[in-house]
Parts: sequence; structure tokens; C-alpha cells
Amino acid sequence: MDLTHELKAPVQSIIAHVQRLIRLFRKGQVTKQAISKVDSIVRAERQELLTRMANVSLVSVLDRVELHQEPKHLKQIVDESVSRQQALAAEKDITIRTTYGTELGVLSLVSIDPKRFMLVVDNLIQNAIKYSYPGTVIEAKTTDTSKSVILSVTNIGARIPRDKREEIFKKFIRLSEEEAQFKWRPGTGIGLALVKRLVELHDGEISVESTNAPRQARPLNHTGPEPHRTTFAIILPRYT
Ligand SMILES: Nc1ncnc2c1ncn2[C@@H]1O[C@H](COP(=O)(O)OP(=O)(O)O)[C@@H](O)[C@H]1O
Ligand SMILES: [Mg+2]
Repeated sequence: MDLTHELKAPVQSIIAHVQRLIRLFRKGQVTKQAISKVDSIVRAERQELLTRMANVSLVSVLDRVELHQEPKHLKQIVDESVSRQQALAAEKDITIRTTYGTELGVLSLVSIDPKRFMLVVDNLIQNAIKYSYPGTVIEAKTTDTSKSVILSVTNIGARIPRDKREEIFKKFIRLSEEEAQFKWRPGTGIGLALVKRLVELHDGEISVESTNAPRQARPLNHTGPEPHRTTFAIILPRYT
């Protein structure tokens, strides 16, 4: 498996935009907009690259990985991941909303390895951005119940056919453009395999749902393939 494939797309995108800026500079046509475009591309792709590098470095040691768990609020992890990925979302005119709900009056703790769980959340949000239609909203939400904490990430975009919902959690599986009815860039399909393994190491479970998006959630003036609403949900035992 050629893992450099995983790193190619963000690097190529940065190079292309820098080269464009150099061409503009040579012609004396550099504008403020051109600079801020490159600035936001670099910030967005940098984040994508960091997550993909973390994936690659973890995938080879996944069978031996040891967790260093501590009681934490998921809110802290989600807030941090979302704020780091804002530039990536903004590039596609995507808004990320966060909600933290509890039936118990205060937010619950979960026992997690913060660094590893951050990679779980980063992957889910990065996928949500990557497979969304521009101009849509992503919702990252936690819900506490007496026994567990549920984290869900919902986005509007590519569909996941029913018969592929187990398969996407396997290593190196990606949906084809036709299956997903969605055009995107190269990747290797290791993200969700890592996510599932890490969630299970935390005694949690992950599931996915993907159905036709309700009218009000669709991007304005959408043409193209039917938008789907996809939710990845993780359930973790509450720390007591
Ligand atoms: N939020 C999502 N919406 C639609 N399809 C998704 C979403 N997240 C993941 N997928 C599908 O699952 C596949 C596997 O995802 P992942 O393991 O993260 O690999 P990668 O993102 O590198 O393709 C993706 O290629 C895509 O087809
Ligand atoms: Mg991914």
C-alpha cells in the first residue's frame, strides 16, 4: 500500500495555489484577495495534512496501541477539533454548529485518551467537510444520558449506500464516485478503520446512517445528485 497517496492531495493543492500566486506576482497582478485565498488554502490543507499524517503514523502500530485514559468532557475535544478545522470548512462555505446537551444538568465525563480521541473527532469532522456539498451545515453534537455519552456528526452531501455501511469501516475501503454520487479527491480509506478501532479500544461503538436530506437542509439552488444526510454516531460509557 502506497501511503504517500494519502498525503498527495493536500500537498498538490498547496503547491498549485502557491504557483498561481507566483505567476500573478510575475505579472504584477497580486491582489489582496489572491493573497488571502492562498492564506486560507494553506491553513485548510495544513490541517488536512496533519490529520492524514497522524492516521498514517498510527495505522502501522494500531494492534499495539496503548491508551492513556483520563476523565474528560467531550465538549473540550470537539470544540478544539472544530476550531482547528474552521479554515477547511470555510473553504467550502460550510458552517459547523456544535451542541452539547445533557439530561443530567451537568456535562458528563468520559474516560478517554485525549490525543487518540482527538484523532477520532478530527477524522469524523474532516470527512464531514470533505463529503459535504458547499453551502451546507455540519452539526457536531454530544448528548449525555445516565449511562452513556453520544457524539454525533451530521453532514449533508454524498450518500453511503445501505449495503456499504459496514464496509467503509474497513481499511483501504473508499466508495467510488458512482456509489457516493459525489466527486472528490484521492485518499486511501484508512480514516474510518482507525476511528472504529480507537472507539472500540475505548469500549465504545460507532454506527452510521445516511438518508435523503430534508428540503430545508439542502444547499440553495442545488442541482447535481440527491443530497444525503449522513450521521456518524459514537456511544461511549459515562465515566462514574
Ligand atoms: N460524512 C461522509 N459522508 C459520505 N460518505 C462518507 C463520509 N465519511 C466517509 N465516507 C465514505 O467512507 C469512505 C471511507 O472513509 P475514510 O476511511 O475516512 O477514508 P477517506 O476519507 O480517505 O476516503 C470514504 O471514501 C467515503 O466514501
Ligand atoms: Mg477520511
